[in-house]
Amino acid sequence: MKPVYFEDESLKLIDQTKLPTEFIIKSYTDYREIAKAIVDMIVRGAPAIGVTAGYGMYFGAREFQSLSKAEFLEKMKEVAALLAATRPTAVNLFWAIDRMQGVIKKNDDLSPLEITALLKVEAHAICAEDIQMCRDMGAFGAELIHQGDTILTHCNAGALATADYGTALGVIRAAFEQGKNISVYADETRPFLQGARLTAYELHADGIPVTLITDNMAGWMMKQGKIDGVVVGADRIASNGDVANKIGTYSVSVLAKAHGIPMYVAAPTSTIDFSMMSGDEIIIEERNCREISHIGGVQVAPDGVNMENPAFDVTPHQNVTAIITEKGVVYPPYDINIKKLKQ
Ligand code: MRU
Repeated sequence: MKPVYFEDESLKLIDQTKLPTEFIIKSYTDYREIAKAIVDMIVRGAPAIGVTAGYGMYFGAREFQSLSKAEFLEKMKEVAALLAATRPTAVNLFWAIDRMQGVIKKNDDLSPLEITALLKVEAHAICAEDIQMCRDMGAFGAELIHQGDTILTHCNAGALATADYGTALGVIRAAFEQGKNISVYADETRPFLQGARLTAYELHADGIPVTLITDNMAGWMMKQGKIDGVVVGADRIASNGDVANKIGTYSVSVLAKAHGIPMYVAAPTSTIDFSMMSGDEIIIEERNCREISHIGGVQVAPDGVNMENPAFDVTPHQNVTAIITEKGVVYPPYDINIKKLKQ
């Protein structure tokens, strides 16, 4: 399932706000509309928004490729700034924009037309590499999943959150494809319901046994011995191994630790922010409180009540058993072992 792909000179996005009841593919050629699609969560998930932003940069360049070199370079700064202002927490967005800007910088002796052609190649490369990284993570991570295991996951770190295959769900998919008789508990993941709407949807579609629970049921499932391991994705990992991921991941990590259950994080190295020493530095996106007061358009909270809606939290590295990357599985001490991934 590819939530973001390039076809007929346009960017296609599965509208993830409509799943699971409607499957709609939207077509984009304007970088402003692409930025809006990221804000509106038509496309979401750290790697997927990185891939989308890469294409956004290409479409910006395509629009301005007939300008003079100086005007083109100025416009590309505006394109990058607009895309970067969409969502603050997932580092893959900034990683992809930086990578596209690197192409512009490295080739500033070329014409805007030539640079635009190179940006197209780079956007395709980011997309293709993302799929390969998910496959590689899957192969490494599947070794940690045993025959008969039941895995809890939170939010959606699946094919829908990447260019294809998924990070956390990529690990689960790989274990399943190896013939391991595994099953999954999916937290529904309030307030945006990525677990119920997206994780349950894609695992069910692939025939991987999945049981949907509400977020407050995870601890009780663990207490009853029904969960053997937790696998989640990440939006930004600091160099000490602290992990920002969907709100509720921290609670799951505390529960896992209390029950002696391994907590694995699956993320490509593009999710590691080597410049951040700890998770304290990570900016947590605050979203519209309507996501809390309404479910499926139905009001569930009184008018005028105070609400807060942090979209992510930070799991301290002490609660993370291992980080699964496309380069291999990283264990503590993270401050030493994460640095080795940079080489
Ligand atoms: O707000 P979202 O849906 O973009 O949040 C997504 C998550 O938190 C995922 O777990 C994370 O991006 C990892 S996706 C492979």
